[in-house]
Amino acid sequence: MKIRKLIFAITLVGMLVTVGCSQFDDSSTGRNEETKKTSNHIATREQEVEELSLLSPERFLNIAHRGASGYAPEHTIPAYELGEELAGDYIEIDLQMTKDGELIAMHDSDLSHTTDVSGDVQELNLNEIRVLDVGSWFNEIYPDLANPVFSGAKVPTLDEIFTYFGKESNYYIETKTPNKYPGMEEALLQLLRKHDLLNTSLREGIVIIQSFHKESLLKIQQLDSSIPLIQLFNFKGKAKLSDAQIAEIKEYAVGIGPNFKSLTPKFVKKIRDADLLIHPYTVNEGKDMERLVEWGVTGMFTNYPDVLEKVLRERRVAE
Ligand code: G3P
Ligand code: CA
Repeated sequence: MKIRKLIFAITLVGMLVTVGCSQFDDSSTGRNEETKKTSNHIATREQEVEELSLLSPERFLNIAHRGASGYAPEHTIPAYELGEELAGDYIEIDLQMTKDGELIAMHDSDLSHTTDVSGDVQELNLNEIRVLDVGSWFNEIYPDLANPVFSGAKVPTLDEIFTYFGKESNYYIETKTPNKYPGMEEALLQLLRKHDLLNTSLREGIVIIQSFHKESLLKIQQLDSSIPLIQLFNFKGKAKLSDAQIAEIKEYAVGIGPNFKSLTPKFVKKIRDADLLIHPYTVNEGKDMERLVEWGVTGMFTNYPDVLEKVLRERRVAE
């Protein structure tokens, strides 16, 4: 893990040096730096990150999807750590609930997706799930990215994630199949309170909750109206929402999370004109990232937060 961290640190330094050189080259063409600063106050990615609220539409959100899951087994502590090291603004967490009511980080309720056992999360207690290995599959499928640290990785509970990453991290949490798990929203809020993550004086947007299920978001709004919510969509064909649907979403959510391939520039503009944030998923290719940023999306989910960060930095330099 240490070697991996070192490699990524070197990559990031390389990125920064590249950006720095580009800025130097730009000024050598005779353009007036002072004019550039005043005409575009948020001129660099650093300024954007330091000065703007996470919920500002001008602050582009780099959401590490299931952690940096392109480089490490999804929903493991190493994947989340890497997400932050590679400049992800948020750790994205999919929630499932065990038979004994513990919230755990896992995308599929079917355990065979990341373990060597079959069965459903809700059929097992936490102590039965804790013994499972959710990392070895990654080493087998991606030998070039394999790391001994991943072997034997355990399913983290949400409680453990909050304990490990604390208040310095930002969490973008999805209630998965909430209709299967009565009490999921209450359990989530209880943990957020336990870890003081609903303290509004901390940082606006430190926690965002997302779901494909409107009822789940409405329940959370009812329990605590201060939490920013994102309505997820999986559009078949081109993304489409009527004015009435958009008005309804605005009643409870700050934005939407659509599948990125459904998007058109016109749809993105419509959402942005409605003052909603728009965070498409899951965007892993640089050229797709560039196009979507150009269209005006305000963040995106990616398995490769370093690739997105590079796109965002290069764009700031070019502006
Ligand atoms: O939460 C956004 C995106 O992650 C939804 O897709 O299936 O990866 O959870 P999924
Ligand atoms: Ca998700």
